[in-house]
Amino acid sequence: MCASERECRAIADRIMAGVDDRSRTMLDVIERRYDEAELNTIAAAMDRVVRGEPVQHVVGWTEFRGLRLACGPEALIPRPETEEVVGWFLEGMDEAMKGREGRGARVVDIGTGSGCMALAIKAARPSWEVWAVDQSERALALAKRNAADLGLELHWAAGDALDSSWFHWPGVFDGIVSNPPYIPHSEAESMATHVKEHEPGMALFVPDEQPLCFYEALISGARERLAKGGCMVAECHTDFTQKVADCWQLDGADTEVLCDLQGAERAVRLIRH
Ligand SMILES: C[S@@+](CC[C@H](N)C(=O)[O-])C[C@H]1O[C@@H](n2cnc3c(N)ncnc32)[C@H](O)[C@@H]1O
Repeated sequence: MCASERECRAIADRIMAGVDDRSRTMLDVIERRYDEAELNTIAAAMDRVVRGEPVQHVVGWTEFRGLRLACGPEALIPRPETEEVVGWFLEGMDEAMKGREGRGARVVDIGTGSGCMALAIKAARPSWEVWAVDQSERALALAKRNAADLGLELHWAAGDALDSSWFHWPGVFDGIVSNPPYIPHSEAESMATHVKEHEPGMALFVPDEQPLCFYEALISGARERLAKGGCMVAECHTDFTQKVADCWQLDGADTEVLCDLQGAERAVRLIRH
């Protein structure tokens, strides 16, 4: 069900845009005549949304930092707050790499899902070497399709962020970015149906007793593999952001908590000097 008129309007806009790229607003519904086939497509899409499917799955794509990305049940739907996280990462990289700007950088996105963060970074900094890692082969297949559609070249790896194998990859990274799973299983009950029934559980949930497991793996990885003059940023559950900042202790590094546009503590950024 729609939470507000604004949300309903946004959903309707997406469906209209799925039928006809020119139809971006509800106003078009009044101004433009749809033929019967188009009206049937719109009605079928509306029906799926009313029955609980995310509108992004129904239309098959979403936008992330200006990139059009395919989305489906294989991976998390990219979220607007994650667009901000990518912005904080790019800013942090600029600060960490002051004086070395022209040199290029090697960065890795841990838990890439649809590839949204890695692809947005590559689009913003084409000279960088961007790696994208996920344990889910289905998510990686979707991310690779998105990269091919956008003509962006990334390096891919299937792997478990919680084992230490990626700490031993050759070379160091100038940047590490991640939006790992961070919702404790016990919160599933209170979550919206369109999220818990249509998005992959492995993209969402962590054990109640280990809510920081991915952040602990990230800081261990950073100790081994984050270059001096490097930056690491991870999106966090707003209840745990401060705890992540406390656990991200590294000699010669500064750590800060970042708040999103809603004022929620949303990410932690570490810069290694
Ligand atoms: C919250 S989703 C984020 C996806 C994408 N980065 C985004 O922001 O939309 C977390 C991702 O981590 C992946 N993942 C879960 N457990 C993992 C693990 N142990 N190792 C590597 N990736 C994992 C999931 O498959 C999922 O794609």
